Amino acid sequence: MANALEPLPGLKLHAGYLDRDAQQRLVADIRAVLADAPLFTPRMPRSGKPFSVRMSNCGPLGWVADKAGYRYQPLHPDTGAPWPAIPPALTDLWETLSGYPHPLQACLINHYAPDARMGLHVDRDEADFDAPVLSVSLGDTCVFRFGGDTRGDPTRSFKLVSGDVLVMGGAARLIHHGVDRILPGTSTLLSQPGRINLTLRRVDRPDGAAGR
Ligand code: SIN
Ligand code: FE2
Repeated sequence: MANALEPLPGLKLHAGYLDRDAQQRLVADIRAVLADAPLFTPRMPRSGKPFSVRMSNCGPLGWVADKAGYRYQPLHPDTGAPWPAIPPALTDLWETLSGYPHPLQACLINHYAPDARMGLHVDRDEADFDAPVLSVSLGDTCVFRFGGDTRGDPTRSFKLVSGDVLVMGGAARLIHHGVDRILPGTSTLLSQPGRINLTLRRVDRPDGAAGR
């Protein structure tokens, strides 16, 4: 494994971590998940404005967004079925790279069509911020933007390429981050232009205590 780049303490980029074969196997795993748990359109709390990114999940818990708010729940919002199991390759990745001794609970699948983006936000719907968030990029390259703990802190950007794994942990667990844009046609991994991002999360504190 090449050493990770660390643009901020706790923000670690493992560039090219997954080789092409591993990426292809993961895409097949995700296609199987999506056959059971189709992509849904998340919506902003209150306004109900749709996100441009479509989402699904696997694992005991999945992240959803609708007029009522942001939350984790065990059931798909459209089908009402439990989320499919997390593919073993992702469980292995969590065990290798998270440095966190408790199991992964949620894998959010973000699907970016060529014109999709994700505004700056903080991942803070989890009760346990001791666990990092691990993010896997598949398909077209994107421009990833990150800032600091406070909205309005200066931001910088770098590209995330298919096969890259980004770890947001430690002092970078609660930084603002988002995706400015996708660069369509930069990868041949997916059959259509676009990007899939997987974020692996621990949601509950292992002692069962309420978070925050
Ligand atoms: C996210 O913050 O949920 C997604 C980040 C990404 O798509 O790289
Ligand atoms: Fe995020």
